[in-house]
Amino acid sequence: MVWKCVIIHKEVGDKMKLPNLMEAKKRTNEKVKTKTNEYIVTHELQHLGEGLFYYVKTYGCQMNEHDSENIKAILEDMGYKEANSMETADLVILNTCAIRENAHNKVFGMIGRLKHSKETNPNLMIAVCGCMAQEEHVVEEIMKKYKAVDLVFGTHNIYHLPQLLQKALEKKGQEIEVYSMEGDVIENIPTKRDNPYKAWVNIQYGCDKFCTYCIVPYTRGKQRSREKEYIIDEVKQLVEDGYLEITLLGQNVNAYGKDLYDDYTMANLLEDVSKTGIKRLRFVTSHPWDFTDGMIDMIAKYDNIMPYIHLPLQSGSDRILKLMGRRYTKESYLELYHKLKERIPNCSITTDIIVGFPGETEEDFKDTLEVVKECKYDSAYTFIFSPRIGTPAAKMKDDTPLEEKENRLYELNELVNQYAKETNERYVGKTVPVLIEGISGNNKNMVMGYTDTQKLVNVNASRETIGRIVPVKITEARTWSLNGEVVE
Ligand code: SAH
Ligand code: SF4
Ligand code: F3S
Repeated sequence: MVWKCVIIHKEVGDKMKLPNLMEAKKRTNEKVKTKTNEYIVTHELQHLGEGLFYYVKTYGCQMNEHDSENIKAILEDMGYKEANSMETADLVILNTCAIRENAHNKVFGMIGRLKHSKETNPNLMIAVCGCMAQEEHVVEEIMKKYKAVDLVFGTHNIYHLPQLLQKALEKKGQEIEVYSMEGDVIENIPTKRDNPYKAWVNIQYGCDKFCTYCIVPYTRGKQRSREKEYIIDEVKQLVEDGYLEITLLGQNVNAYGKDLYDDYTMANLLEDVSKTGIKRLRFVTSHPWDFTDGMIDMIAKYDNIMPYIHLPLQSGSDRILKLMGRRYTKESYLELYHKLKERIPNCSITTDIIVGFPGETEEDFKDTLEVVKECKYDSAYTFIFSPRIGTPAAKMKDDTPLEEKENRLYELNELVNQYAKETNERYVGKTVPVLIEGISGNNKNMVMGYTDTQKLVNVNASRETIGRIVPVKITEARTWSLNGEVVE
């Protein structure tokens, strides 16, 4: 892939900053600095978007959701207003995900659609950012085949969006600026939160784990923890502003602080954030490898740390786990699982599983099923392995036919759904706390929210309950949701 990038450089000149996966892979020992004045919107830029409407379409994980909240706030600092639909927008930003092939396909499909819109509205501006923008082959394709895209920027330079938009607006042709290396932690980026009761709070960026199938360490750079003072101040402000729930975000939140402090860990952070008085505290994602007893102690000790843990398994076969570079075994995973269940009563546990990793045999797959049978997860996100360009697993010999992989996924999902339904059935008759956050999608006369254990509940209650944590008696269980009524 590298030589292709060199050719692109020659074609487009040196001004454009293009991504390079080999560069992105590099790690330095240098401690990352915190910068508080990198995001700048000059007086001129504050008026650039006046009278114009934007629409941000987000793909992928919570990290991207939160980045989109930053992007929206930046655009509003520039005078843009949010459009009600993509069709009425003057600027469409696609915040993309690179985790699997279908994520790519969705984005290219959307760019194709937008290209048509541009034919009727030539002033429409199209920008692509997020994890796909960090991949050199994607940027190469956009440059060659998708000239309708006006601006490409990456995950490391969101704070630079005002200046980039200005350049793109002045220029005919594409403006591309993607940094391969992560750079510093920027602290002064604004946020426009989508939900008035629940907020995302970044505690760490990037990932150093390099699981062999995964593109994230390349698209998000090296692990950089945010300084604890900034995190705690942000949460205190959220409490003051009336938020009831926060979710601490990172690809491996358990490794928080390792790159920054000698003696301050995720367990300490959980305790300090819990003490801010936020009603509900969650965190994603926990890698089983770094999950310490200290963390378990904190979750067990503080009532406002929710009894819900996402604990990705990926595979139940030691052989495959080793090939994946996950650094735990079936046995150590199960040991952690049971410890969590014992120490945190009522704890719900969900997981991620990949089937059809290169070389996965029927035997390996059976090992995964065994673990699922033992853990009886509350729910699980299941995927067929998708080779990502530049990752080691993409080069591994993979001779399992797709049909076989699909059969395995089907069998796994049957089992997962069965346990999800059984878990939900155990809630019937119980009264549980639910943070009511809006009108139910199923029935306009009902409201919806989540339990402490992160179960979606449709509730028979008045709209006055929205924005409160109320006791709800569960009356009915479905596979993916519960029904209930308020008991006050
Ligand atoms: N940091 C998290 C995972 C983030 S990606 C962790 O380590 O647990 C979310 C999920 O996508 C992963 O848990 C994995 O199950 C899935 N995934 C990642 N790369 C994939 C690939 N190449 N093919 C299929 N699934 C993948
Ligand atoms: Fe990807 Fe592994 Fe990092 Fe999770 S821990 S983001 S799966 S490399
Ligand atoms: Fe996708 Fe990037 Fe998140 S690849 S899953 S949006 S970190």
